[in-house]
Amino acid sequence: MFQKMIQQVEKILPALEQELKAVKTTSALEQVRVKYLGKKGVLTNVLRNLGKLTAKEKPLVGRLANETKTKIVEILQAKEQELKLSEARTRIEKEDLDISLPGCGPEIGHRHPISQVLEQIKAIFVSMGFDVVEGPDIESDYNNFEALNIPPDHPAREMQDTFYVNGTMLLRTHTSPVQIRTMQARKPPLAIIAPGKVYRRDADISHSPMFHQVEGFMVDKQISLGDLKGVLEVFMREMFGPDTAMRFRPSFFPFTEPSAELDIRCVMCMGEGCRVCKQSGWLEIVGAGMIHPVVFRNVGYNPDEYSGFAFGMGVERIAMLKYRINDIRLFFENDLRFLRQF
Ligand code: PHE
Repeated sequence: MFQKMIQQVEKILPALEQELKAVKTTSALEQVRVKYLGKKGVLTNVLRNLGKLTAKEKPLVGRLANETKTKIVEILQAKEQELKLSEARTRIEKEDLDISLPGCGPEIGHRHPISQVLEQIKAIFVSMGFDVVEGPDIESDYNNFEALNIPPDHPAREMQDTFYVNGTMLLRTHTSPVQIRTMQARKPPLAIIAPGKVYRRDADISHSPMFHQVEGFMVDKQISLGDLKGVLEVFMREMFGPDTAMRFRPSFFPFTEPSAELDIRCVMCMGEGCRVCKQSGWLEIVGAGMIHPVVFRNVGYNPDEYSGFAFGMGVERIAMLKYRINDIRLFFENDLRFLRQF
């Protein structure tokens, strides 16, 4: 019995080695483990007859069995390592995801060209001491027209030109109503710019139903046309370069008297005459004038005590000239190929 048991135990390891050669997966390996080490496994089976041995024989077989068990565990662990590695390798080989490729980072956007120009305009006026104020896009007919001395029969009030919300409210057609709001709320001296969106029923290569204006005005005792000219000159030179030539041309606005338009020498042809300046060599760029006494009276200012200038400029127009863009609609189509160039 003793000899037989020794032989049986000694056969276990070679048998295991033989069997493992055919094992290709970790799950197949688990079956082998159960077969050799489980409760009904090969080793337990052999030891079942341990009781039939003599007291001298028992520890000898027991030691051999223990050594064998340790070996089995070691062999199985080594095999498991090997299988796990090769399984991982085949899994990686099957995947079409190449984790060694460099990743693609998130795209970084930037400010829209109109926002960039707006920021620049604001910065120039702030450096001259102007405050930035904003007003609502939906305005009263009173602030947009009546208080600005625009008579009821003025063509700008036509449905064709203005988006009306109802009988008394509309989408502001210019930023000039911010003059009214600010003067109603504050006392002179005032130096204000008011950037924002304005709306007109107009759409073609140089008109958009929504565009941006920057209103500017200054009110105090003894503000003159010379102040207006000086402020706009500083602005234009900052915006378009120190050699920018300018001219004031008489014009008309119901809310300024006298009124003027400021032209700059055409930035496209340098005054030679081209399509953009309609062969004149000059570009209209700002509407301006001295604030009309009627407007002062409408906001409760005494026109004999105070005087002031006001101006309004189109942001898209300035951006088009600065960046040589010939179609205003490009700003609003949001084609990334266009926007990425700024
Ligand atoms: N509000 C005028 C416009 O939109 C521009 C302007 C503003 C003119 C202030 C004079 C003074 O055309």
